[in-house]
Amino acid sequence: MTRTVAAGRALQAPAWWRDAVVYQIYPRSFADSDGDGIGDLQGIIAHLDHLVTLGVDVVWLSPIYASPQADNGYDISDYRAIDPVFGSLDDFDELVEAMHARGLRLVMDLVVNHTSDEHPWFVESASGPDSAKRDWYWWRPARPGTQPGSPGAEPNNWGAVFSGPAWTFDPASGEYYLHLFAGKQPDLNWENPAVRHAIHDIMRWWLDRGVDGFRMDVINYISKVPELPDAPSRPGEMLADGQAFYNCGPRLHEYLQEMHREVFADRPEHVLTIGEMPGVDLANALLATDPARRELDMVFQFEHVSLDHGTGGKWQRRRLEPDDLAATFERWQHGLAGRGWNSLYWNNHDQPRVVSRFGNDGQYWRESATALAAVLHLQQGTPFIYQGEELGMTNLPFREVGQLRDIESVNHYATALAAGVDEATAFEQVRWAGRDNARTPFQWDAGPRAGFSTGRPWIDVNPNHGWLNAAAQVGVGGSVFEFYRQLIALRHSDPVIVDGDFERLPGTAPGVLAYRRVLGDQQLTVIANLSDSPCRPGTDIPQGSLLLRNVTGLLTDTLAPWELRVFRS
Ligand code: GLC
Repeated sequence: MTRTVAAGRALQAPAWWRDAVVYQIYPRSFADSDGDGIGDLQGIIAHLDHLVTLGVDVVWLSPIYASPQADNGYDISDYRAIDPVFGSLDDFDELVEAMHARGLRLVMDLVVNHTSDEHPWFVESASGPDSAKRDWYWWRPARPGTQPGSPGAEPNNWGAVFSGPAWTFDPASGEYYLHLFAGKQPDLNWENPAVRHAIHDIMRWWLDRGVDGFRMDVINYISKVPELPDAPSRPGEMLADGQAFYNCGPRLHEYLQEMHREVFADRPEHVLTIGEMPGVDLANALLATDPARRELDMVFQFEHVSLDHGTGGKWQRRRLEPDDLAATFERWQHGLAGRGWNSLYWNNHDQPRVVSRFGNDGQYWRESATALAAVLHLQQGTPFIYQGEELGMTNLPFREVGQLRDIESVNHYATALAAGVDEATAFEQVRWAGRDNARTPFQWDAGPRAGFSTGRPWIDVNPNHGWLNAAAQVGVGGSVFEFYRQLIALRHSDPVIVDGDFERLPGTAPGVLAYRRVLGDQQLTVIANLSDSPCRPGTDIPQGSLLLRNVTGLLTDTLAPWELRVFRS
């Protein structure tokens, strides 16, 4: 169905993606067709009808390229090959065909801030200071006056996202290379035009193969201040946060515009482009998504998923204040309205499960999963659903360190212990905030291994799959799945959800989030109690027809715990 666009986005008319809903598949954990315990492309093909039933329009696939899997595929050694663990290029072509036949579009993960250290570009680059590809990565000598390879001799003081310094020493060439993530993920040097051309080529290659768009991994990190200066450090700490020198760096927007010109501008169909941008501010998000600037369609910002982080970052947990959440939503809805575009998400493969994190995965599991879904999905922007979210999948109750798989958690745990943190505290940190929570196998049914695999899964299956699974929910009235299905159908049929202005309703009781969407004389009012206690919302409950509710029982002026009501007027 083709829609005309609102005035502010006239440059892209008609934009098929404006009322689309995206579903993220983490292939390793979705469905395993060959019993090796790791999900694969044939597994996805066999389950596409689940997505059709749900009603989504686009699938974003986390990386399936050849990779040593140091970071589960976010470390690529060949951009034009499928990792054998997932299948072959033939399987991929079959997947594209099967998806297109069902009206689903495919967005690939594009990981080009860094490669694997096993990528031939890096292997050649590391072969010595005179290598023709030396300048494809960031090589630097040791800090002047230090012994190369000794602690503190790194060229600058930046810490890596996955713990330790952002530099690894290469004794063979006597220099260090930069990696903002793990040592096996060296950063590409985008200053070099040959690097950018090579990346554009790869992108065109996949588009010619039939893909419909890209989700671009940490794309706001690609431009660094070339001098790579030291960052201010906290007293007593060796390592510092270098983001000031690479988060939305000096040439980011230039690179994105060049990519648009080189790769997207002349394609017959609109290519969907989504930038992952940790730590992006509103100003840069607007620059990146204003269609007049020809950069990206939308970006993932991280503000709402950082509201429960303490001063020490994600490993320090603090309670989410629903008021902070409402304020963040309001800022981004207003900030991008009319010019930019929001992507809306609670979950992905990097975030703990939302029903465990911001909801109540015990007594109010169903109510909180559905209330959280609705307050997100009824905003303006493009909603993303991460596999299993549509079932209300929860965090894994990890019992021991041996269950951890994620490099970030494993490294953090070891670093915390080395820094004197006690085992129980360090374990609690990774248990709560670790990315493995999102990566447990999809729960298809109540059978052994949740119907995910006939072999031993690469990561433990959540023990709650006996009752929390797709077979128990698809087609079952009142289920979390059916609620998601309704939300998606509403977006497809109701222009006020796609185009309406966003107005937060003031004066609500603590724990209550309420907003209105307005388009001409159409109004939608969303009121949710995001707490475990019944309460009066503190704002007038509107007159009008009740469109959606997630609990049953008499409609009174008190909201039940986690009750959600949506009215149309
Ligand atoms: C992104 C990915 C994450 C990965 C990191 C490095 O944040 O979503 O999974 O570890 O980039 O590629």
